[in-house]
Amino acid sequence: MSKRSLKSHTKYSKPAAGKLERKIKALLAKMTLAEKIGQMTLFTAMWAETGPTIDNNFMQYVREGRCGSIFNAYTADYTRSLQKLAVEETRLGIPLLFGFDVIHGHRTIFPIPLGEACSWDLALMEKSARIAATEAAAEGIHWTFAPMVDVARDPRWGRVAEGAGEDVWLGCRIAMARVRGFQGKDLTADNTVLACAKHFAAYGGAEAGRDYNVVDVSERTLAEVYLPPFKACVDANVRTFMPAFNEIAGIPCTASRSLLTETLRQKWGFSGMVVTDYTAINELVPHGVAGDLTQAGQLAIEAGVDMDMQGGVYFTQLEALVNAGKVSPAAIDEAVTRVLRVKAELGLFEDPYRYCCEKREKRRILSPGHKAVAQKVAEKSMVLLQNEGNVLPFNRNLRSLAVIGPLAEAQLELLGNWYGAGDGRKVVSVTAALRDKLGDKIQITTVTGCEVDDEDDSQFKTAVAAARQADAVLLVLGENGNMSGEAACRVDIDLPGMQNRLAEEVARAAQGKPVAAVLFNGRPLAISRLAKAVPAILEAWFPGTMGGQAVAEVLFGDTSPSGKLVMSFPRQTGQIPIYYAAKNTGRPISPDKYTSKYLDCANTPLFAFGHGLTYTTFSYGPVRLSATSMPTHGKIRAAIKVTNTGSRAGEEVVQLYLRDLVACVTRPLKELKGFKKIKLKPGASAEVKFTITAAELAFPGPDLEPLVEPGEFEVMICGSSSVASGQRFTLLP
Ligand code: GLC
Repeated sequence: MSKRSLKSHTKYSKPAAGKLERKIKALLAKMTLAEKIGQMTLFTAMWAETGPTIDNNFMQYVREGRCGSIFNAYTADYTRSLQKLAVEETRLGIPLLFGFDVIHGHRTIFPIPLGEACSWDLALMEKSARIAATEAAAEGIHWTFAPMVDVARDPRWGRVAEGAGEDVWLGCRIAMARVRGFQGKDLTADNTVLACAKHFAAYGGAEAGRDYNVVDVSERTLAEVYLPPFKACVDANVRTFMPAFNEIAGIPCTASRSLLTETLRQKWGFSGMVVTDYTAINELVPHGVAGDLTQAGQLAIEAGVDMDMQGGVYFTQLEALVNAGKVSPAAIDEAVTRVLRVKAELGLFEDPYRYCCEKREKRRILSPGHKAVAQKVAEKSMVLLQNEGNVLPFNRNLRSLAVIGPLAEAQLELLGNWYGAGDGRKVVSVTAALRDKLGDKIQITTVTGCEVDDEDDSQFKTAVAAARQADAVLLVLGENGNMSGEAACRVDIDLPGMQNRLAEEVARAAQGKPVAAVLFNGRPLAISRLAKAVPAILEAWFPGTMGGQAVAEVLFGDTSPSGKLVMSFPRQTGQIPIYYAAKNTGRPISPDKYTSKYLDCANTPLFAFGHGLTYTTFSYGPVRLSATSMPTHGKIRAAIKVTNTGSRAGEEVVQLYLRDLVACVTRPLKELKGFKKIKLKPGASAEVKFTITAAELAFPGPDLEPLVEPGEFEVMICGSSSVASGQRFTLLP
């Protein structure tokens, strides 16, 4: 079989060697070794705790020119006071860089990234990042440690909350949208910040879904699954990268020259700056690849790490390493150049105080416009998982509604795990939002019923009584915000505590009445029990500052849910890892004994990637192809008729999946290669078209370079990855 490979045309993005480069060179020439190492040092100002608490004297180090960047500090006032120390009290007055984890909003908090990704609305996700940057930059922040672009297929791992789910193709596009949103078109503008592609790489592959654990994946899985979203960030001109804590097959990312220099810089042409994760250089010692911090520092600088976050290793070890001839002055100059370059790109040398502006701060923080967008994002992030008997939307003629569950009156929990400078007091709970919306038309009773995660069922009776008396019941269930995110993994991802039993007893008491559940959670949950007990389930993730209002709008039908899952929901935790782009294996599941299946559970997920209902229904016609074959550099058009067969207008994410039936390596049963969001009125139809070119058919060949192989392909188009078959065409040699 002749193979024609499409060479990846990497554009080396060498920075323009103009005024900016000359300025940096001139400054570098004046710097002492200690001042250079200072630029490679980042300390926390401890306005947020994002790692092991290490007390440090950062203000003194800034004054001494030995700390060139600070994170976990914000507000115009505080950042200006720190900036003054650097600009007015140090010998060279090099401005500080302020970093912060602006993960899903700064003061106006958006849904967690995993939830926002379920909107499948790239423009909206870019806008949300843009608003986050606008608010952060107004408070003196220059740099966010986001987007997290780790593909993740194990929901036991708490950090799935921060990413874009299990799919590579969609993950790449969401990563680019978020980088564009944060960085905008002009980094010197007062509403843009440096983005940071993290955690490079394969952090989502942590063994057993346990944070920081070993990652041992093949070169092929690295190339096919984990690297592409990072390459997409480079293509979107992301200006900083953060290596992951984990090792990959024995080499911790922080010490991996192959990853940080050969792949990132030499192959992909990345010209920005690499900052470690929190004390990650220090952790090379417990990893067992460095005998002490001196060796750890040497490994990191040799790998290509420019800045040491909080570990103080460069701060204490680098000078001696250079003086002992173990680290070259050129390596130091290279790292410092990259740090100074991103500071210059922000315009900090022209005006170190450009981002510290109280007036802008007041005008922009939590503006009505920002909150309106946050509510829209929250509404579009919600996924209607099931809706038997069309329980939802609730009927406005209800006289009473019992709102039952541990999160019924939650505020701070709706912000999720990593809300940075967000404020839970700004959040309106679901119960309060329903009361605001419904006034006295529908009488709302609220009962907690149980806590999120304890064994106390003493309030069950009250909850059951409330369910009996009300016309309808809304269960508000899920996880606490701190049960996902970093260092928050769960070995059993069903609803925690007594919530399943509460749901079953309340649903039994409300037999014959509308009963729905809304979930607030930071990961897919294995909710087979809940799905059996409650006919309607709305997945709301942690929806952010405006989440309560957004849930109320969707529950009563003022907004129809339109989200689609970006990560599979398993039936049982034991199915993990479970993802739609699986391989067929040599013994695909069948009724025969000797095939790939479980004795006690189906292979399929409870809810599939791409799944999401709405308040209407859609029918799909047959897939039509413009031809049955295509030359390698040609194209084929695929079309399908989609009809709104229900009684309400609705939005649908029409998804294009391709399957490469025979190739030189095994290929997934299907891979997402396109989608279109459409809106249809009741009874209306739309012709949805996709163009397929070689780009959609390429995959890493035996040399892991992009390869397009002639052969047979299958085109599937549907509203979920659970689609099974479609039309075939042949790619000609
Ligand atoms: C944390 C996280 C990383 C974050 C950094 C700074 O440990 O792993 O995602 O950006 O420290 O807070």
